[in-house]
Amino acid sequence: MSTTHRIIAIDGPAASGKSSVARELARRLGFVYVNSGAMYRAITWHILERGIASDDAAAVEQLANRTALSCELRSHDWIILVQGADPTPFLWDDRVNDNVSRVSSVPRVREILVEHLRRAALTNDVVMEGRDIGSVVFPETPYKFYIDASPDIRARRRAAQGQHDAIAARDRADSSRRASPLIIAEDAHVIDSSNLTIDGVVGEIIGRLKLKGLTIAS
Ligand code: CDP
Repeated sequence: MSTTHRIIAIDGPAASGKSSVARELARRLGFVYVNSGAMYRAITWHILERGIASDDAAAVEQLANRTALSCELRSHDWIILVQGADPTPFLWDDRVNDNVSRVSSVPRVREILVEHLRRAALTNDVVMEGRDIGSVVFPETPYKFYIDASPDIRARRRAAQGQHDAIAARDRADSSRRASPLIIAEDAHVIDSSNLTIDGVVGEIIGRLKLKGLTIAS
């Protein structure tokens, strides 16, 4: 895919802090924020609403094929609509947490969503976060980051958000699946956020982007 827009890829495991960092970075740079995980969550929510078991890969694929997905820019966020409806309020429900990794392992689901993700960068500079953004969605971008934190700290961060979320299980599933597993892209800059604030991580990313020659307004 070719685009003249700038793409900043931020990958990492569950609760590593990438959402807060990506959102703040996008705000500081004036780029559009794309949470690819929200898209996998949206399709998971839809599948559950339709009573389909997330481990029935054939049924998941079939429903994904006939679901109308569209994306729109709302303020500076790239939002996914499922059959015209905005599923945002339901995306972080426990049942979505519990099923999203299984749905995300279905290759056809990934194919459909990757196409939508790539489209976001045709018309916008983007900060996009996820699991495979630097490795699969935009392997050609020079701006790749991988944010990690110790399992202990990540579990504590998620609990502090009041969510029941088996992040260790999700990490295992996301790292071991065959389709686009979570990996550290070879040319990604790795940041351990265990002892850093959000501003600290954003500052490190901005410093790195400047070194790489990205022109930054602020
Ligand atoms: O909750 P957290 O921020 O850690 O995860 P998320 O970014 O909301 O992603 C939820 C789930 O979607 C992940 O556990 C993956 O299974 C899947 N996902 C993916 O497969 N590929 C992406 N690019 C983003 C998310």
